[in-house]
Parts: sequence; structure tokens; C-alpha cells
Amino acid sequence: MIPVAKPLIDDVEKQKVMEVLESGMLSIGKTVQEFEKAFADYTGAKYAIAASSGTTALHLALKASGVQPGDKVLTTPFSFVATANSILYTGAIPVFCDVEDKTFNIDADKIEDFLKNIPGIKALLIVHLYGHPCDMDKIMELVEKYDLILVEDAAQAHGAKYNGRHVGTFGKSGIFSFYPTKNMTTSEGGMVITNDDDVYTELKLLREHGDTGGYDHKVLGYNYRMTNISAAIGLGQLEKLDGFNKARSENAAYYTEHLKGLDWLELPVSDEKCVHCYHQYTIKVKKDRDRFVEYLKENGIGSRVYYPVTIPSQTLYKELGYDELSFPVADQLCKEVVSIPVHPAVTAEDREKIVKVIKNYE
Ligand SMILES: Cc1ncc(COP(=O)(O)O)c(C=O)c1O
Repeated sequence: MIPVAKPLIDDVEKQKVMEVLESGMLSIGKTVQEFEKAFADYTGAKYAIAASSGTTALHLALKASGVQPGDKVLTTPFSFVATANSILYTGAIPVFCDVEDKTFNIDADKIEDFLKNIPGIKALLIVHLYGHPCDMDKIMELVEKYDLILVEDAAQAHGAKYNGRHVGTFGKSGIFSFYPTKNMTTSEGGMVITNDDDVYTELKLLREHGDTGGYDHKVLGYNYRMTNISAAIGLGQLEKLDGFNKARSENAAYYTEHLKGLDWLELPVSDEKCVHCYHQYTIKVKKDRDRFVEYLKENGIGSRVYYPVTIPSQTLYKELGYDELSFPVADQLCKEVVSIPVHPAVTAEDREKIVKVIKNYE
């Protein structure tokens, strides 16, 4: 079976992890600091703060960026549930705005209607889904005009850029996930980046129980620390990230070249202002998507539907009163999308097989 995702770990990571294990300093420490510095340098952010997961990074980012209980936060219905859950963790209220069909991201043309018509929207939590940046020109215009707190969920977008600038650096803060299926991993782990000195101070406080040293805990914080073991893996992975992304991009270009012209299949696009890091290569199948997924499986090809349902239609959110809402674009995408293997471990032989099998789908 060609898997839909595969972390690539070799002697580089093993060596770095062994050094940590032998040092005896297993929890947060020098290696985490080294990883934070390397990640900040990579993205061009002033600060990077490592966390125990992308989800905890999101919670920290929203809170440290100033989202308060009762605030409304505008976000996308078409993402992993952690995006909206992090808003709930802060006591704020998610408001969902439909996505655009072309990029799968929040529809920047629809945002202003929400801002004009719904009072109390204080923040915008955008997601650069599958590694394709959101429309940052339009979004930044609205952020300025309506004085919004912008937080970027770049959990799937390590190395993606908009107008030459890394995603995650546009907002008050941005986050990344290092879950094993992502473009780079630390096993579990996450990172918040920011250019804001106050947000940085708050992030550090919140990550470690509000600790300012000397056991005087001034605010209600959490234990969202990353371990040195995870950071050691992350340091190895970060060195390879550009190479991984190049391989993803080559695989994507191959599919785009060889799968074009099928009338039942729509291929992903990359806007000219963007560097897409192809966390996923997500196609739209207009001819019985669920049968297509089974067909791939029968032919030894892994695939995954991200996402078969929108966030507001999941039980928790229905119970919170979101069940009456419909999102015409996102709802349709849920029926059509499927991601095929694009990760760096996909070989030339795998790609050829995948194209051949897809072309023979009837
Ligand atoms: C868009 C998005 N946001 C947040 C997360 C949460 O990251 P983690 O799984 O590391 O907690 C994920 C991870 O799958 C994600 O894809």
C-alpha cells in the first residue's frame, strides 16, 4: 500500500535524540531553545515558542494575542476541529465563514459581510489549508480596517509563503503543528511564532503555569511545554524541510501535468502570489468520491478525505447550536475532496502507478 502520509526519520534525528537522552535533560531546556531559535530564523519571525502540540499552540496563540472570553472569532468551517476548539478553550465564540472553492481557504470576499453585520467580532483565525496560503492581501486590508486580532493556523503550512513572506508572520501570532503526518514532525508538538514583544512574554507565561520564577504564579497558565526529545527530532527535520517541500512540489507538479483533462476530476491550483507547500494534494472527484476512495484502496493506494464533514456539523458544534447553518461551498467540498499521496517518500514508480490507476477509474 502506498501510504497517504509517512514521516521520514533517519540517523540525523536519531543522533540528536540520543544526545538528549544521554544528557539526562529530557523536558524543556537547551534543545527546545535551539529549536525555537532555528524555527524563528527559518520563518523570519522575531520569536518562536514551542508547545506540546499544534492544538496547545493554538490555544496559547489566541489567548496571548488578546482573545477574551465572550469575543467572537471568525474562522473557517472547513478545517480540522482543533481550529475551532481552540476558540472554545479561550471562552470565545466561533463564527464560521464559508470557504472559496478554488483554494479551500476562508473566502476573503465574504468576510466583510460578517464584520458589518455581526457585532463583537474581535479576531480572525485563518487556516492555510493543505499548505496553500490564504488571500493575505485582502485579509490584511480587513484586519487594518476593522482593527482585528489576526491569528494564523499554519498547522499544515510549514514553508508556505505569500508574496515571498512566510505564512504565520502576518498575524499577531501564527502556529504550526508537528504531528507525524505534517511536512515536518517532532512526534507530537507545535510552535507559535510572533513579532510582538508583549505576545511573546504572555506566551511564555501561559505555557508554563504563569511561572515568572520563584514559584509566584501570577496568571492561570498551563503545562504546554515541548520536551527536549521532541525538539531534537524537530531540529533534524527542520534542516530537511526545504528538501521535503521540494519533493512534495515535484510530486504535485507531476500529478498536475499527468492528470489534467479528465472531466470528472478537478486538480488543486496554486495562486501566483503563493508558494504552496503541498501538505496535501487534494483533488475533487465529481464521480462518486467514496467509490473512488475504495477503488484506490483496492489498487494499493492510500488516500484520505480531509474533511468529510464541516466543523459546525459535528455533534459537539450541533449541540452548541450551529446545526442550522449551511456552507454551500464547504458542504460541497466535503462530498468531493480526497487527498492522494504527495509526501517525499512517494517514488517515481509510485507516482506513475497512482496516475495510471486514477486514469482508469470508471
Ligand atoms: C489545520 C489544523 N489546525 C490544528 C491542528 C492541530 O495540531 P495537533 O494535531 O498538532 O494538535 C491540525 C492538526 O492536525 C490541523 O491540521
